Amino acid sequence: MKTAITEMFGIEHPIIQGGMHFVGFAEMAAAVSNAGGLGIITALTQRTPEDLANEIAKCRDMTDKPFGVNITFLPSLTPPDYPAIVKAVIEGGVKVVETAGRNPSEVMPALKDAGIKVIHKCTSVRHSLKAQNIGCDAVSVDGFECGGHPGEDDVPNMILLPRAADELEIPFVASGGQADGRSLVASLAMGADGINMGTRFIATKEAPVHENVKAAIVAASELDTRLVMRPLRNTERVLTNPAVERLLEKERMLGADLKFEDIIEEVAGVYPRIMMDGEMEAGAWSCGMVAGLIHDVPTCKELVDRIMREADEIINQRLARFQGAPVPA
Ligand SMILES: Cc1cc2nc3c(=O)[nH]c(=O)nc-3n(C[C@H](O)[C@H](O)[C@H](O)COP(=O)(O)O)c2cc1C
Repeated sequence: MKTAITEMFGIEHPIIQGGMHFVGFAEMAAAVSNAGGLGIITALTQRTPEDLANEIAKCRDMTDKPFGVNITFLPSLTPPDYPAIVKAVIEGGVKVVETAGRNPSEVMPALKDAGIKVIHKCTSVRHSLKAQNIGCDAVSVDGFECGGHPGEDDVPNMILLPRAADELEIPFVASGGQADGRSLVASLAMGADGINMGTRFIATKEAPVHENVKAAIVAASELDTRLVMRPLRNTERVLTNPAVERLLEKERMLGADLKFEDIIEEVAGVYPRIMMDGEMEAGAWSCGMVAGLIHDVPTCKELVDRIMREADEIINQRLARFQGAPVPA
């Protein structure tokens, strides 16, 4: 399948693995890229820009296919050294950067001068247009159902994707709730040129996370995610657990008085404990509603091949039937 996204990034299939904190290591990115998608290393999971440079070099040893780096811009009192991160990406010869959070205008000149393609992940049409205006090459349109930060507008992909298609001139991929060939074909029908998946890629053999995390995703249904930190306008979709329910109770009790310090125990520093140690009740961790569609732990190649096979069947059999085309036996 050829789309504007496969052509732009030089990949075989229009499937991207979104940056994920304490998941997007070299092992994850290389496995997705080797499967013909675009794997992405998460810059902020690396403690220093030097560590990021090493992770990029490690990924390059594991795949000769293109892969990218996610740079997330978070509100922070002590912001990461973004110029040094960008330098590590450029010197590492990375050709694709996924940005997220605040708009990436401050890093655009350096990335563009280095010939890097930038795909900005955002949750609204207005932010997508802003990304287009500042020179991003593509957008990842992240609907309300997504794992992680869905923004504050709460527009699901069934509306958000066609809205983006109506307004954008640059290509975009559908992000949030994507799991299988049905997701891919539906997203293409709504104007996207591919899909971006987070939660689905965590439940794969190569994802470098504790088995408990994969088991929790397989066990979860579409009813098991919660939105936390809404009162702080930093909404995150996470998998429910006792720590998350405690956090929500604090939000209900404190109302508009809630401060980040009140919930620090449930959110700060919990990712390594969950992703690496498998302490599933350590705190809140991002997970999409799409968990309800995830029932197995395949290899990345099995997953990507299955998505492409299902998409082909849907297009050439199920959809073709509606037009009266003869269906292959
Ligand atoms: C555990 C986890 C961690 C994530 N961490 C980040 C991150 O650090 N930066 C980022 O831009 N997106 C992050 N995301 C969002 C994903 O890149 C992707 O946009 C999202 O998962 C898509 O929704 P889905 O989970 O329904 O596929 C994270 C998602 C998950 C599930």
